[in-house]
Amino acid sequence: MTAFFNSELSQQQFLTQFWQKKPLLIRQALPGFDPLLSIEELAGLACEEDIESRLIEETGEAGPWQCRHGPFSDSDFAALPASHWTLLVQDVDKHVPELAPIMRRFSFVPEWRRDDLMVSFAPVGGSVGPHTDGYDVFLLQALGSRRWQISHEPLQEAEFIDGLELKILREFDADESWDLQPGDMLYLPPHFAHHGVALNDCMTFSIGFRAPTQLEMLDAFMQTLTDQAGGQQRYRDPGLQVAEDDRLIDAAALSRFKQSLMNVIEQSDNWISDAVGRLMTETKPSLLFLADLNSSEPLEESGLSEKMLGGERLVRNSYIRLAWLETEDDFRVYAAGEGVSVAKQASEALPVLTGDKPIALDELKALREQPTALSALCALVGLGAWHWDEPE
Ligand code: SIN
Ligand code: CO
Repeated sequence: MTAFFNSELSQQQFLTQFWQKKPLLIRQALPGFDPLLSIEELAGLACEEDIESRLIEETGEAGPWQCRHGPFSDSDFAALPASHWTLLVQDVDKHVPELAPIMRRFSFVPEWRRDDLMVSFAPVGGSVGPHTDGYDVFLLQALGSRRWQISHEPLQEAEFIDGLELKILREFDADESWDLQPGDMLYLPPHFAHHGVALNDCMTFSIGFRAPTQLEMLDAFMQTLTDQAGGQQRYRDPGLQVAEDDRLIDAAALSRFKQSLMNVIEQSDNWISDAVGRLMTETKPSLLFLADLNSSEPLEESGLSEKMLGGERLVRNSYIRLAWLETEDDFRVYAAGEGVSVAKQASEALPVLTGDKPIALDELKALREQPTALSALCALVGLGAWHWDEPE
């Protein structure tokens, strides 16, 4: 059994006892943790145009809990007070490839459930206010210390301070308070109120997860139905009773509508898997530009061998999500919200096509025995999921 970080728990015990259920503090989860990122490098990322960043000041010029969005400049940082502010940068695991392995430490949860590594820096007193998040999060202390106060129960109907961009809780009574040192980590399920205040110069890594809403799932399902011209069965009402009022949509009719909707879901396993594959690999709008910038030109199979014979290799585009699933007829590899078919007999190609190891001539030779694997690789290059080592 694989241990859950540096704890007595196994990964499965963590999932069974804590995941989505209750908070957990793991002292020295990663002993001797090295963030591999300096405060200056973090500030540098926040100055880049296509990187999502925020500066939160507890008593900003524009009022309490002022939130500004990047890109920032050196003069923005120079004008900050000595305390009580936080800089946050999203998707650092993708912008700084050296930090991608941190996300893989969380591979006991599927990759398509993992969102990003957000890194924050705050001087003493800095915080983003007491709040809840809709997602699970691991808060890994990277530099300095932070005092985390949390509640023991999830807050389903939170009340927020009016008129702020940030959703700061109007009231927060902590049940627990812990000071985290580098290497310590706190896990919080969705909706648990928390408030982390920097006790000195403090860098925190937030490993965040993603979980679509029902609305997003239905939207994706609708999209698949539209593309596949499904859902064409019309409303039917055998057994219709004469109504007292012919303008009334009665309970029997409403229940036929509901049943019809349930039927279309019930009878659409393949379309639902397609919708899920697309939804869970869609590129976040904030990353679309960088995803495209890191893509290579689509190519034919002959071009693939030619380049590899010349010593080039394909590497994963860190901005594009990949996942696969099995249908009755084939495997589907999804990338950037698009599906590619791979034959059932090519199952050994899946870890290569969806993995994070570069693909060079040796891997290509292995794939060559499976024509669908090779054509899938070309399609995945076309979708931007794999690109040549040297971007063209
Ligand atoms: C922070 O790093 O200051 C905030 C992280 C969080 O509360 O989710
Ligand atoms: Co939070």
